[in-house]
Amino acid sequence: MQILMIVGSEMGNAEMVGDLVKDELEGLGHEVRVISDGGLAEAELDAAETLLVVSSTTGLGDVPQNVEALYGELVEERPDLGHLRYGLVGMGDRNYKDTYCGGPKKWIAILDELGATRVGEPLMLDATDHPTPDLDALAWLPGWLDALES
Ligand SMILES: Cc1cc2nc3c(=O)[nH]c(=O)nc-3n(C[C@H](O)[C@H](O)[C@H](O)COP(=O)(O)O)c2cc1C
Repeated sequence: MQILMIVGSEMGNAEMVGDLVKDELEGLGHEVRVISDGGLAEAELDAAETLLVVSSTTGLGDVPQNVEALYGELVEERPDLGHLRYGLVGMGDRNYKDTYCGGPKKWIAILDELGATRVGEPLMLDATDHPTPDLDALAWLPGWLDALES
């Protein structure tokens, strides 16, 4: 399967998770293209069928700066994503209370609004409860791949 990964990371945690997930997917024989900067032109969402978003939260419930342009163009240009199926690994910290996992929640909201089909249950990783988000993401991955195939 060809999988597009959007990796949004401010301090490197989500990047580490994304790297490990990419390696795992490639080890399973999938082709992975990672987008971690640029906008819609670079992401080429039209050419993708399967998307995995790995994104942390920054500011007050915001998406990380490296994917701000892409997120902003989705919100403004509203391309039809009806062809896209997606899963999500989100990261945040519940100490931020009202904005807990706001970044990943923004991704879910815009992808759903633009017609993408969410596959599997998004994984939300709380930095307080999940000291090893990379391993938690790896444990979540087989269920997502199964859901894509069923
Ligand atoms: C400046 C800053 C703002 C943050 N804001 C939020 C927030 O609003 N909500 C939340 O759930 N987590 C928030 N976090 C927690 C991060 O999302 C969490 O630590 C995550 O693991 C960081 O991943 P990253 O290194 O890939 O950016 C914030 C962290 C920092 C440093």
